[in-house]
Amino acid sequence: MEAKPLIQIETLSKQYKMGGEIVHALDDISLRINYGDFVAIIGPSGSGKSTLMNVIGCLDAPTAGKYWLDGEEVSRLRESKLAEIRNRKIGFIFQGFNLLNKLSALENVELPLIYRGVPAKQRKEQAIEALTKVGLGERVKHKPSELSGGQQQRVAIARALAGNPPILLADEPTGALDTRTGAEVMELMKELNRQGHTIVLITHDTAISKQAKRVVRIQDGQISEEGGERREPQSSLQNGG
Ligand SMILES: Nc1ncnc2c1ncn2[C@@H]1O[C@H](COP(=O)(O)OP(=O)(O)OP(=O)(O)O)[C@@H](O)[C@H]1O
Ligand SMILES: [Mg+2]
Repeated sequence: MEAKPLIQIETLSKQYKMGGEIVHALDDISLRINYGDFVAIIGPSGSGKSTLMNVIGCLDAPTAGKYWLDGEEVSRLRESKLAEIRNRKIGFIFQGFNLLNKLSALENVELPLIYRGVPAKQRKEQAIEALTKVGLGERVKHKPSELSGGQQQRVAIARALAGNPPILLADEPTGALDTRTGAEVMELMKELNRQGHTIVLITHDTAISKQAKRVVRIQDGQISEEGGERREPQSSLQNGG
């Protein structure tokens, strides 16, 4: 069976105007990520990682080029429509966890489901299911301050998982953790991928990127596939794969 594309990016660029100068943060990149992939995007500071994450995550629109997410072209959408797609399709995991300190683990995980309009009872069930999946079924009433760093990141992962969006998008998810806790979080990411979740993980750490199935290197806004693979063919886009 042919792998089904979840993310298709074709000759995409993102430019920023800074004073009189144009910064080419993403320079004519093409990338295809299939369902079930686990892709690490690695590159040095300033290479364009966050810019790419923002585009993939529908937080920002490209200047030029095309982006299909789950079969739908999203490169030209207005912010309100992007927000709606982002809500349904992307589970975000950030370096600093971004949990709300006044809310319990359960309430934090329920938040994106509230935005998605999931009714209360179902919301609670889905949130508990996600927390159980990350091994925190016994900690649902704890607030972030009552959890370790690794546990907080697992709550954030549960929040990303809740409602089962097709992509988990992680920006330096182990960046704020010590080595051992970071390794545990990576084990969890690998387990989630084995269970079928598609993961795109941004990092500057080679030891982390090596654990993904696929590594894409970004440098000066341009990407190349690690391990000598070709750049993504651009012809397969016409019929949506
Ligand atoms: N809002 C902006 N306005 C102008 N230039 C920007 C803006 N955001 C990013 N850039 C520039 O685009 C390039 C890519 O930035 P980006 O934030 O994507 O890098 P990064 O790989 O995430 O770096 P880091 O590892 O430090 O987070 C950099 O040269 C940066 O200065
Ligand atoms: Mg960045």
